[in-house]
Amino acid sequence: MSDLSFVRQQYLNYFKSLDHKIVPSAPLVPENDPSTLFTSAGMQSMIPYFFGAAHPEGKRVANSQKCFRADDIEEVGDNRHTTFFEMLGNWSFGDYFKKEQITFVFNFLVKELKLDPKKLYVSCFSGNKELGIERDNEAAELWQELFQSVGVEAKIIDNPEEAGLQDGKIYFYGEKKNWWSRSGVPVNMPVGEPGGPDSEIFYDFGEQDSDLARAMHAENPCHINCDCGRFLEIGNSVFMQYQKTNSGFVPLAQANIDFGGGLGRILAAYQNQPDVFKTDAFLPLIEKIQSFTSFSYDDQDKQKYFRVIADHMKAAVMLMSDGVFPSSKEQGYVLRRLLRRALRQAAYLEIKQETLVELVPSVVEIYADFYPQLKEQQAKISQVLADEQKKFSRSLSKGLKEFEKMLAQKSLFTAEIAFYLYESFGFPFELSLEEAKNRSLQIEEKIEEKYQSKKTFHSLNSKQGSQAQFKSGLADQGEMTTKYHTVTHLLHAALRQVLGDSVEQKGSNITAERLRFDFSHPKALTAVEKANVESLINEWIKADFEVDKQIMPKSEALKTGAVALFIDKYPDIVNVYSIGKNPSGNKKGEDFISRELCSGPHVERTGVIGEITLTKEKAVADGIRRIYALQKSA
Ligand code: SER
Repeated sequence: MSDLSFVRQQYLNYFKSLDHKIVPSAPLVPENDPSTLFTSAGMQSMIPYFFGAAHPEGKRVANSQKCFRADDIEEVGDNRHTTFFEMLGNWSFGDYFKKEQITFVFNFLVKELKLDPKKLYVSCFSGNKELGIERDNEAAELWQELFQSVGVEAKIIDNPEEAGLQDGKIYFYGEKKNWWSRSGVPVNMPVGEPGGPDSEIFYDFGEQDSDLARAMHAENPCHINCDCGRFLEIGNSVFMQYQKTNSGFVPLAQANIDFGGGLGRILAAYQNQPDVFKTDAFLPLIEKIQSFTSFSYDDQDKQKYFRVIADHMKAAVMLMSDGVFPSSKEQGYVLRRLLRRALRQAAYLEIKQETLVELVPSVVEIYADFYPQLKEQQAKISQVLADEQKKFSRSLSKGLKEFEKMLAQKSLFTAEIAFYLYESFGFPFELSLEEAKNRSLQIEEKIEEKYQSKKTFHSLNSKQGSQAQFKSGLADQGEMTTKYHTVTHLLHAALRQVLGDSVEQKGSNITAERLRFDFSHPKALTAVEKANVESLINEWIKADFEVDKQIMPKSEALKTGAVALFIDKYPDIVNVYSIGKNPSGNKKGEDFISRELCSGPHVERTGVIGEITLTKEKAVADGIRRIYALQKSA
């Protein structure tokens, strides 16, 4: 058994012996929680139980939860940050509280895992008078007794950020460090959100002899929350006992415990190995990568690439195992970003991109004993990866060439260039930015905001017409534009009916003369498909369907089955346009032909449009087709 499996099993066994029910890991994509793309903490699925809902397994549960933190993608490269990790967690829903929790954690680390208590340090909340939340002397004293019970002196120290370590063991920090809620510090919490003070445990790897540590300590003293590499946070007990209201905090009806500890980090402490990439959670991956390249993991210039590839490939496999596949939006986009970043970095180690697929078995080797489904999914995951790699390698060389060409003319890397690279070659924005930084180019100010607004504008412009653009378009061009706008919806619906729901609108452009429409589809339409799409649209036009407009809150609209590709970008109140009530022959049994969130305007009935014809159809980017429609009589 690997040490990874051993530490996980010890934890689960220990909490089982303390009357906890061991519950399975929730999936990496949370169920029924549209507020977040990924599960990033074990407690995410536990929120209702902090408020008193009965957990089906009782008041004490524990698990090892798969987590993914997209925010950390750029952080990967040091010896501790990873995007995918497992979080060991135990919860008390109004059952045991502070005293038991602190004792449980201490005993698990010191008695079960036999970590040296001299290497453990803890932090507690220093309190906040304005919020009416007291300094957590109780936690500090509990820790002190426990350390003393194993013969370790445990001094309590205030203000460690300025005062430094001072031979202490227990340190008081403010809410930036010792308060936990899903939205961070108290002032950022929305009304209704639960949170509370917490107490963290750190492992000491000893003073670091590195340039980073020296630079950091030239100005500031070392303390347990310092990032010099000496201390690693390995667990956090949250005393989940408050709820934010309009007028400050009130106690929850029950006091809860939410403990989370990174399994990979506890393992690093267990193996006394400050580099998590050298522990059992990563070693098979690092060794495999090592076998592909003549560079060494210990080569300081190259280490980062080993770590990024290992982390991203592992995360990608785990995400795919939970049903995420590369695409251009949401979870699929994050996965694509991870994969393309890993594939790009392979070049820096002189590894062929296609070789990275061979890392899949190493991930399976690390996790298959606890996640047996990985073995069954291995072949499929490898296939998806190989496909994505092929797609990317085709666009990569073209994209890089284009990149160089554009940059030969400009020394400034702009949002416009990034958007072009994305649109034409599928370069994720973050990757382009990284390429630009690697070439020490000047980066346009606020590039990310500008890029996002370009993307949004482009999408909305094609999807629903930015209001201003459409209005001015109409004033100039009269009713033909409105007709073509309605045809856009019919065309989208017909393409989905003929080619399947994987078709998504990617853009459109309307003039008085014609409609241009971009959509996702891997290959050219056959003559039969194109004829079918055209005849469906004309059938719907002839049927003279009513175009119905309803105004409703976005949340309601999404429940109606309306197509909405840019959910975050719509206002809270939206128009929902439906065409064709109760049509016969809708394969999915829906009571409409087309339903989309859209700012309009549209014709009132499809009959006014007149017969249309589909003309050119061609590729505009990898997986994106462009088709033109015009009205026969126009
Ligand atoms: N919710 C806390 C954390 O994520 C402890 O589980 O750190």
